[in-house]
Amino acid sequence: MNFKIPFSGRAHAYTAEELETIVETAKSAAPLTQGRHRNEFEAAFKAYAGVEHCFAVCNAASALELTAQLCCFKPGDEVIIPSHTYTASAYPYLKKGAKIVWADIDPATRVVTADTLRACITPRTRAIVVVHLYGYGADMPAIMALAKENQLLVVEDVAQALGVEIEGQKAGSFGDFGVFSFHSHKNVSTLGEGGMLTVRDPARAAIVPMLRHNGHADYPEPRKDYWRPAMGNVDLPMLGEEILMPNNYCLGEVECALGVKLLQRIDASNAEKRARAIRCIDALAAHPELQFHRVTTTRHNYHLLVARIANSWRDGFIRRMAQEHGVQCVVQYYPLNRYPFYQKLGYGVANSPNVDDFFDNMVSFPFQHSLTEGELDYMVGAARTVLKKLAV
Ligand SMILES: Cc1ncc(COP(=O)(O)O)c(C=O)c1O
Repeated sequence: MNFKIPFSGRAHAYTAEELETIVETAKSAAPLTQGRHRNEFEAAFKAYAGVEHCFAVCNAASALELTAQLCCFKPGDEVIIPSHTYTASAYPYLKKGAKIVWADIDPATRVVTADTLRACITPRTRAIVVVHLYGYGADMPAIMALAKENQLLVVEDVAQALGVEIEGQKAGSFGDFGVFSFHSHKNVSTLGEGGMLTVRDPARAAIVPMLRHNGHADYPEPRKDYWRPAMGNVDLPMLGEEILMPNNYCLGEVECALGVKLLQRIDASNAEKRARAIRCIDALAAHPELQFHRVTTTRHNYHLLVARIANSWRDGFIRRMAQEHGVQCVVQYYPLNRYPFYQKLGYGVANSPNVDDFFDNMVSFPFQHSLTEGELDYMVGAARTVLKKLAV
């Protein structure tokens, strides 16, 4: 189907200055990976996110893999994860031997709360993954208090929520780990792939460079000849008594140089997306069947614009939007316990009625930043027309 307004996999265009940065870095950077641009990106990100330790990586999935390694799970350990999220929030923990316990979401905010997480805690719980889904910041102060009480590690999956603030503090700076994505679809993207990992504990942070880059480490002593015994050392990453295996999750210099520029405009981009979202939501306020989550503060960056539709109208709405108006609405995020991957591994059952209700009745509108105001007006007009027809 040829859509007038597709649900695009690309969120935004680049400014002339950003394009210039890409070209200049591609021309001049030496090396093209792990050079000064990575250091500059990490320094800028630390200042922006208000964290002590951060590491540029090739995507958020690899950052999640690193958090799973750094949790050092023991056999039988459990990790609590919302079933309403993208699959990369979950499978890295299975790879490192943890068992998943699916958490429910709050129907109003569509993210986990301290209460939905508390219901999943057992004596085996080791960690929780909090996903700031759709760009809304979960209640981290309450969740951190719960984690402290139960001695749990907290991973914040901030893939969709760069720049979001919770009580004046940046999402991703509360937990033991924060994981950010600069994927093509995100509010800002480093050429399609990119990620950042923040780590609170200095001991864990100290071994991330080795885990990120093939186990390379400095030699313990200065060497007489720079080529002996080898050009670079490879050592065993250890966290206390735990041996961790290395990976290669580095991010290239062009992406890092671009990332520095993108950080300079993320607040403005988020503010514009939020203003657009509120405008669309208010323009549809006469149709209470469409239940949006309306937030006017920096707690939401409206990475995505989603709503629950009442009266089991969802499928009819999406079909008519597509066929009669050429607007490609979609559904997200398929409860993970319903995928064959998780079912075949024994994680097919979740006690998450709010996830089921939301997913089965939800719609996600095309909301890439590159849409024009005129296209948004067209989409809102189409939604009004379809809702009126469905009401007859
Ligand atoms: C909630 C969530 N977590 C993790 C990821 C993985 O991000 P990446 O594509 O950068 O690996 C995504 C990306 O779509 C996501 O939406």
